This record gives sequence, C-alpha cells and structure tokens, in this order.
Amino acid sequence: MNFLNIDGSDEQQQAIKDLTKEFEVSTEKLRSIVRQFIVEMSKGLERHGATVAMIPSFVTGRPTGTETGKYLAIDLGGTNLRVCQVALVGNGEVEIQQQKYTVPEPLKVGEMRNLCDFITDCTDAFLTEIGTDSSRETLHLGFTFSFPVNLTSIDRGNLIQWTKGFSCSGAIGTDPALMLQDSFRRKNMKVNVAAIVNDTVGTLMAHAYRDPNTFMGIIFGTGTNAACFEKMEKITKGNSGPTNANEMVVNMEWGAFDEERRVLPVTKYDNKLDRESIKPRIHVYEKMISGMYLGEIVRNMALGLVDRSLLFNGLSSGDFNTQWSFETAYMSNIEEDTTPNLSETQHVLESVLGIPDTTLADRQITKTLCRLVGLRAARLSAAGVAAVVSHCDLLKRDSSTAAVDGSVFAFYPNFSQNMMQALKELFGEDVDKKIKFSRSHDGSGLGAAVIAMQVSK
Ligand code: GLC
Repeated sequence: MNFLNIDGSDEQQQAIKDLTKEFEVSTEKLRSIVRQFIVEMSKGLERHGATVAMIPSFVTGRPTGTETGKYLAIDLGGTNLRVCQVALVGNGEVEIQQQKYTVPEPLKVGEMRNLCDFITDCTDAFLTEIGTDSSRETLHLGFTFSFPVNLTSIDRGNLIQWTKGFSCSGAIGTDPALMLQDSFRRKNMKVNVAAIVNDTVGTLMAHAYRDPNTFMGIIFGTGTNAACFEKMEKITKGNSGPTNANEMVVNMEWGAFDEERRVLPVTKYDNKLDRESIKPRIHVYEKMISGMYLGEIVRNMALGLVDRSLLFNGLSSGDFNTQWSFETAYMSNIEEDTTPNLSETQHVLESVLGIPDTTLADRQITKTLCRLVGLRAARLSAAGVAAVVSHCDLLKRDSSTAAVDGSVFAFYPNFSQNMMQALKELFGEDVDKKIKFSRSHDGSGLGAAVIAMQVSK
C-alpha cells in the first residue's frame, strides 16, 4: 500500500508503517475470508441459528416491472425513519412521495410499544399531509424493518436481536409486524402490515423491478448486510415457506459473519470499539465496515497515537475524547481533502472537534488513518460479495448486477472502486464486465412496496 508521505518524525513514520501493516488485507487474506464466508453461508442454509443466518424472506417471485398500484412503505433501521407512499405505474416506473423523521434517541432504547406508536404517529401525519385518508379503504404496507428477524411467513416473524444502537425492551422474540399492526389498530388506522421486509431484500426487489439481471441487494450504510436469490432446494433447514417456488430471496445477515473471530483481521482498535458498544461480541464484520463504526475506529487509532505523544502534541480535546464524536462523514471529508495544507482536515480537527493547533504532520497522519480504515472496509466488503459470486456461480453468466444502497457506498470516496479492485485480485481483471454495482436509491421504500403488492394481490 502506498500512502501519504508524512512530514513528521521517525517515530511518527514508524507508527504509520506499523498501522498500515495491521490494517492491510492482502489478496491471500481476502481469499481465506471468502473461503470461510462460503462455509458459513452453507451452514446458514442448513440449520437455524447459524452465525450468517441466511434467513428465508418468503419473497419468491421476481417483479416484472409491469405491476401497478399504490402502496405504503415504512423504513426503520437506518439513521432516519422514512414513510413513503409508492405508486407503481408500470414500465418499471414509479412515483414516490415520502417524509423522513428523526427517531429520538430515548425511543431507540425505550419500550417497543412506544417506538411503534411513534411510527404510527408519523405515518398518520404523513398521510394527512399528502391527503390520503386512512380511515376508509385499507392501505397495504410493506414494513422495512432492518434488523435480523426470523420470518415464519411474509408478514410474521420474531426479532432475533437488535443491532446498530437500537435496544428496545419487549421486542426480542416477539413479532415487530404484529406490534406495529396493534399500534395502527389502537389509532383506528386502516393500515394492513402486508409484509415485513429487510432493507437488503427491499433493495434487491426495487432494483429487480427495473433490471432483471439483479442478483443481490446490499446495504453499506449505518450497518451492512446483503440479500441474494437462493435455489429453494439449497435451503434445507426447513420452515422456509412455499416449496413450489424455484428460488427465494434470502436475507444473509452477513454483518454477523465471523463472530467466532476465525479469519477477520480484528485489531485492538476494533476490540475497543466492540467492548464499548451497546452489543459487544456481535456483528463483528459490520463493525469493521459500516458507517456507524468506521469513524470510531479512526478515533481509537488516533487516541492511541496521542497517548504515545505522536499526534496532536499529545493533547486531545473533550469532544475528541467522546465516544462516536469522530463521524464517518468526517472521514469522507478528510479523504477528499487535496488542499496543500489539508485545510479541510484542519477545519474538522480544530473547528469541529476542538483540537488546538494541529501541525501538517498531524493532519497527514489523520488522513492516513482514515484511508487505512476506509480501504480495509471496502476490501472486507468485497469478500462478502465474492463469496456470493462464488456460491451462486455468477461468473458463468454474462452479466450480474448487485444493487447497493447506503451512505458509505454513496458518499465514501473510492469505496466501490476499492471493492472492485479487490474483486479483480480475486477473479481477474475482467470481472468488472460480469459483476456490476449499481446504486439503488429507493430500496427500502420502493422494494417494500413491490413486495406488499406481490402479497396483497
Ligand atoms: C444490520 C441489521 C440488518 C440490516 C443491516 C443494514 O446489520 O442486522 O438486518 O439489513 O443492518 O441496515
């Protein structure tokens, strides 16, 4: 890896060299991660309770793009709550009206019932705003609930565990769709929760509505996860829905990959983040890849250097000492900073985070830390994609598209290029002709609506 030259002391140079080594994911390492990934995917298809859970979504058909009708979609699980009304107008065309709401932090860790009431209140406000009457005709809703849920049918399931900083009481082991349905009933709203959908499944279906080559839906956002089509005969663990279908979309829950810590190159900075997180030990892959966590890894690395007096003259600030204060969005700003003095980096460190008087070497070091963490995230992400490509034998096809959504994919500099580079190392230079990444903007809204339509017809 060739990184910035640091205009700093020998000790600073050496510290950066050491970190570079620790964060490098060589092609060989990638191969061993992919091998393990494929093993874990098979385990997930064979038995319940595996680490990579491979949860049947009960979504069987592929959309044709000709479907029409008006549906509601709710999206919970990223940074915002989104409520959408989706009109499918045929020809792969859609019209979407939507509103975003911030979920207050106390609701994320309070009682599930209160969270559901908040969702219905927002839905009520949204419907009033767009002039849709929910007291007359029943509205069919696709509920994108982006957490691991073991489904027992398309509209029923049990929450396995919370991820991404949510931790409501009274929810684990219960059915989020039923709880939301009850909340609509209490409010006398005629809304039918027709389907409970993971965001990855929604992303896949939304893209498939327009492009039949879509083989996978991936989220690289606050969290990370993927869904892919799987042949019914390979899902051998039972209770997986209709047996007359040839294939079903499977929610992989790949964020949990390698919770056993067999192959992932976990560093002490990852361990620190994990230990201090709301759910230690779980979702280790997600914690090395997704937007909720990347900035915190960089902060941990930087503080390690501060403690050795190799950064910021040994001084931090109250803000920088605060958990989660170094947002992943700052990493994007810093990586994009090409000014000679790294003045954007200076702005983030000094004006936003209150670190006094950074030197050019401080800013170069910070930028290098961001690069190391961002590049590692992209390469580890590629390992998951490569596992699906191998497992599904996709290189035999002419062209396959992975539909991708999420802030890291959309905004992190060079993320998709770095992923593609890793895929080239694994599969050869021509892989970009066969495997393509395509941004799917409205996955959790449109996708959930398409699924609600399939169910309610
Ligand atoms: C977390 C959730 C998963 C979701 C992903 C992306 O990993 O467990 O269900 O798809 O975040 O939002």
